[in-house]
Amino acid sequence: MEPLPDVTDPRVIDGRKIAQSIEANVKNEVGRFTEKHGTKPALATILVGEHPPSKLYVKLKHWACKRVGIVSEDHKLPQEAKQEEIIELIETLNRRPEIHGILVQLPLPKHIDEREVMMQIAPEKDVDGFNPLNMGKMLIGREGFVPCTPKGIVRALEEFNINPQGMEVVVVGHSNVVGKPAAIMLLNRNATVKVCHVYTKDLKSHTKEADILIVATGVRGLIKGDMVKEGATVFDVGITWFDEKVYGDVDFDDVLPKVKLISPVPGGVGPMTIAILMEHTLMAARLQIGD
Ligand code: GUN
Repeated sequence: MEPLPDVTDPRVIDGRKIAQSIEANVKNEVGRFTEKHGTKPALATILVGEHPPSKLYVKLKHWACKRVGIVSEDHKLPQEAKQEEIIELIETLNRRPEIHGILVQLPLPKHIDEREVMMQIAPEKDVDGFNPLNMGKMLIGREGFVPCTPKGIVRALEEFNINPQGMEVVVVGHSNVVGKPAAIMLLNRNATVKVCHVYTKDLKSHTKEADILIVATGVRGLIKGDMVKEGATVFDVGITWFDEKVYGDVDFDDVLPKVKLISPVPGGVGPMTIAILMEHTLMAARLQIGD
């Protein structure tokens, strides 16, 4: 991993610190839950294939479970696994009452219909918020299980007392995992939201207007200083692996002089995403057990 960015700089959002405070709260609540119900919240993960970053992310999620006292179960399927096999495993996990959350690590191999697979996760166990029912609820402003990364961004805004109401928010990237849900969640908070993507004609003309800029494209260094408004808050959700190091979508050194706040890569939204997943697993256990 790269050396960490200078989190003593007040402009740099320390995602690890925010994650630690979320996890400390979850740990407390998990302790209380376990004492009251005689059972621990439990998360099952499904990893298909050998994609090295995915293996790392799943490992980090299991470590987080351990830190907060959540039981975790690790299911691994080979790269060639058939869609039916994955769905069968999800159905088994859906039926097991002692499993409260199910997470299928994305991306899945090319021969699998990701949307079809995500639809099989029982909505009450869908800790990643990717099931269409949970996505639909979010769209109408009833946020329950929502995707963890955008929720981490919203939490970070709260942490810094930034109310997005009336602000110009520009989201770059329109994935189902980050871009679209981030746009909806900021719209739910009355921001004026614009979504840019790979077909957007003049990206800079849009990003320059953003009070809050959320970038999730996977294009290393896409956002330069001249594309950012003075005093903007920037969330870098990109991760590109190169030479065993990770890089974000934002050219950090070029953009830093312009911003009010910026989330770095690594040490920004990544740890917050995992902390929110822990929160969601506890929430799922509470819902299912009736806490
Ligand atoms: N792949 C990239 N981000 C995510 C995420 O938040 N959840 C899952 N399951 N897979 C991912």
